[in-house]
Amino acid sequence: MAEELQEYQGPATMEKITSLAKRRGFVFQSSEIYGGQSGAWDYGPLGIELKNRIQRYWWKEMTQLHDDIVGLDAAILMHPRVWEASGHVENFTDPLVDCKKCKARFRADQIDPDKLAKKECPECGGELTDTRKFNLMFKTHIGPVEDTSSVIYLRPETAQGIYVNYKNIIQSNRMKIPFGIAQVGKAFRNEIVTKNFIFRTCEFEQMEMQFFVKPGTDEEWFQIWRERRWKYYEKMGVKMDHLRWHRHGPGELAHYAKDAYDIEYLFPMGWKELEGIHNRSDYDLSRHMQYSGKDLKYIDQDNNNERYIPYIIETSAGLTRSLLMLLCDAYDEEKVADNGDADDIRTVLRFHPNLAPITVAVLPLMKKDGLAELAQEIRNELREDFATDYDQSGAIGRRYRRQDEVGTPFCVTIDYQTKEDQTVTLRFRDSMEQVRVRRADLVQRIKEEIKNYKRIK
Ligand code: GAP
Repeated sequence: MAEELQEYQGPATMEKITSLAKRRGFVFQSSEIYGGQSGAWDYGPLGIELKNRIQRYWWKEMTQLHDDIVGLDAAILMHPRVWEASGHVENFTDPLVDCKKCKARFRADQIDPDKLAKKECPECGGELTDTRKFNLMFKTHIGPVEDTSSVIYLRPETAQGIYVNYKNIIQSNRMKIPFGIAQVGKAFRNEIVTKNFIFRTCEFEQMEMQFFVKPGTDEEWFQIWRERRWKYYEKMGVKMDHLRWHRHGPGELAHYAKDAYDIEYLFPMGWKELEGIHNRSDYDLSRHMQYSGKDLKYIDQDNNNERYIPYIIETSAGLTRSLLMLLCDAYDEEKVADNGDADDIRTVLRFHPNLAPITVAVLPLMKKDGLAELAQEIRNELREDFATDYDQSGAIGRRYRRQDEVGTPFCVTIDYQTKEDQTVTLRFRDSMEQVRVRRADLVQRIKEEIKNYKRIK
């Protein structure tokens, strides 16, 4: 593991990331024309492309590359007893305090313990209320009558949809322990404090995998999944000295966890959780057995029909939080003089080409003399294989910068020489190097560049 950095030292700030995300169509404030809805965000044209790519990368890593993991897409609305069984109705709470003077609201575990003990508001010094428990689940009603019998929750984690289906999947897909079920989907939490852009929101997406194992093998599988999840980020190409492990102490463990590690990322606002890896023991399946009255024991047909309640190793990553992590990780500024100005600063998102929302931008040097038409033709040759963009407005240098700022790894420029000899200029985002490539070789060359990509900074 790389030596641990103490604090963030890169060029990104949350203000710069938020502003770029809005300006270039990654993320918009929800319901902005009404003043915005806190805790909710909308993903614009580039944001949804980036989110889809992260999701596809995760899905491939967790299902396609494993014989023993299958997928699921369970409903967000579930029987309310699920959340009693899971312990969320009783335990999924945050400690809350309010300031009687300035009315600010805080999570008691996030303010200075001395101030909390003295009941002193960290913002105005006013008097704080007693700490009370606040359940994070969004509650609503199903059907036309709003009474206690119609209460239903928006799921606060995707995991429970997997547990209630684990027997269905064993039966329909003939799965044998050890095996896993992967799922990506929305989750909802009534978070008291939503700040730092999309880091902690009330509506977000999770990428979760639940791995069912024989009791007694759980600690070994827990280590295996910790190692695999670490490698996942390495392969993704993120800065590994911005990742570290954090093991949950006894006071931090969730109500279901026997052991838990977070993978933390060094965001501009400091080290924060990116993903949790949990040994959930047989807690969830035992509770669902108890509350549903159904037998959820596994029958091991290869071992004299031995019956047991499996243990579960969970890997739980935030999809929207991963998107924020990638924006921060990719963000760079560098002094360049390619436009003739020695103090010019270029903003560049150094996404891995497999994750960049646009892979190739096609730019005609001029609109006239048939260059625009030729560029459109070349774009059409590329779009079957890559996510492409086309831009013909403004000086070429400025167009390169626009693509750098959204992380497009390759620009293809069409000029007068293209008309003569059917070659184009291929420009690389990171090095800004340009090479001449035959039009007929372009698709293959870009594919090779993606395959051999190494981040230089
Ligand atoms: N099923 C286990 C579970 O939900 P968690 O640690 O509460 O565990 C897992 O959440 C991941 O989900 C977190 O590491 C984070 O990436 C993401 N996450 C949790 N709450 C979030 C929120 N309010 N906004 C955005 N992402 C969140």
